[in-house]
Amino acid sequence: MPTLGIIGSGNIGAAIARLATAAGTPVVVANSRGPETLTDLVAELGPLATAGTVEQAADAGEIVVLSVPLTAATTLPAALLEGKTVVDTSNYYPFRDGRIPVLDAEELTTSELVQRHFTGARLAKAFNNILADHIPALARPAGSPDRTALPMAGNDAGAKTQVAALIDRLGFDTLDAGTLTESWRFEPEAAAYTRLYLADPDTPAEQMLETPAAPVTAARLASALEGAQRVRVAKRTF
Ligand SMILES: NC(=O)c1ccc[n+]([C@@H]2O[C@H](COP(=O)([O-])OP(=O)(O)OC[C@H]3O[C@@H](n4cnc5c(N)ncnc54)[C@H](OP(=O)(O)O)[C@@H]3O)[C@@H](O)[C@H]2O)c1
Repeated sequence: MPTLGIIGSGNIGAAIARLATAAGTPVVVANSRGPETLTDLVAELGPLATAGTVEQAADAGEIVVLSVPLTAATTLPAALLEGKTVVDTSNYYPFRDGRIPVLDAEELTTSELVQRHFTGARLAKAFNNILADHIPALARPAGSPDRTALPMAGNDAGAKTQVAALIDRLGFDTLDAGTLTESWRFEPEAAAYTRLYLADPDTPAEQMLETPAAPVTAARLASALEGAQRVRVAKRTF
């Protein structure tokens, strides 16, 4: 199985690393503080995992998961991901990222901003619309009747095919949600965002992190994507 590089080994990066190693895929994980700070995670992940620098994770294989805060993503060197297929998990949270005028003006989606930075990479946005704890809770082997579908968007058909195959190995179906321009449909507060995967979709926002997940079929996801209304990004306060 080709090695997967993972830049950012926090909530989402580590959840993806766990699924990857469980599926027999070697991973090279990286964070901002250096490989020596990832010994616990690597010990937990087992022999298929190694810790590396950001550059080593980027060079590890053809596909790289980029799962760092948005402002960190766009300060990494653009050449780092040249020629790579990149799974971009980014979301824009103004309370964390500060106000980004081009996003507030809805001139670009978050992943278009990341794609514009990494001009030589082929981005597929995925794993941004599900809470980190719900990733292991909903992952199922291929063919399981209660498999969950995740949306994916990107501008390069080949990259989307590669990423869909990866996500299938990790335990989810994917639904092609179009180009990065269309990816607002599963960005924060839109209809196909995290709330969709809650067992009780009416859970108050402050209790979402403790709420169990429930499987989402491709048909239900398609309906959420289709019915999504564009969120007025400038009005978002968190
Ligand atoms: N948490 C969720 O449930 C969730 C769900 C969907 C999407 N997302 C999105 O996914 C992205 C990651 O979220 P997260 O919750 O996984 O974040 P997180 O837990 O804060 O982890 C961020 C990771 O990025 C690393 N990092 C930060 N700056 C870096 C840099 N310059 N170079 C290399 N690594 C760097 C951090 O390393 P250090 O610890 O060494 O600084 C850490 O490993 C965000 O855009 C977030 O909005 C999150």
